[in-house]
Amino acid sequence: MLRIGHRGAAGYEPENTLRSIERAITHCVDFVEFDVQRTRDGYLVLLHDKRVDRTTNGSGYLADLSLAEVRKLDAGKGEIIPTLQEVLRLTSGRVGLMLEIIASGIAEQVCRMVHDEYEGTVIYASFLHTEVLQVRRLLPDARTLALIEGIPVHPTGFAEDAGVTHVGLAIDSLTKDFVRALQQGGYEVFAYTANDPRDIAWLRQLQVDGIISDYPDRV
Ligand code: G3P
Repeated sequence: MLRIGHRGAAGYEPENTLRSIERAITHCVDFVEFDVQRTRDGYLVLLHDKRVDRTTNGSGYLADLSLAEVRKLDAGKGEIIPTLQEVLRLTSGRVGLMLEIIASGIAEQVCRMVHDEYEGTVIYASFLHTEVLQVRRLLPDARTLALIEGIPVHPTGFAEDAGVTHVGLAIDSLTKDFVRALQQGGYEVFAYTANDPRDIAWLRQLQVDGIISDYPDRV
């Protein structure tokens, strides 16, 4: 059972910051999960929402801001929004990465930067299944993960279409049968986002392969 820190260790520190990622590492996570998108001038940075409003003191869409503008924002506890390059340099050789691609069209740039800056295991994840399919085309041996919320009519069809090795299921909509069908199809199953110890215990019972938590020490 793999322990995965959500947006670093977002239950303890401002999400998707270097501080949060360091905190996850102190909890001995197998993988640290974080979100990647691109600024107006083409830099890859960490942010979950399309807008900066919820997690910083700024306002507007990240894709409309330059890196210089993004770097002026306070992401919590005095942290700034990190670049992907900074995160790769911080984590290389120390912890696995579950890198969620938030914006469409950035897969190739992401893969190139990981290749240049990071040593270790990466799982490329996205709700945008064409992005992980693009990773598969670029890197035939990559670990890739299709995120999904809900249960499709065919339990493994979406994973086959996306050419992934892993799937990430929302805890609120996963069932034992769905998990089993995917595992029998050869996919590793991660569940997000489990914070309550009772949910974590239930997922352990279901024998999912990885649990994503804001409080990774609880896993
Ligand atoms: O990345 C895995 C899972 O945490 C997806 O949920 O909301 O963080 O994109 P979200």
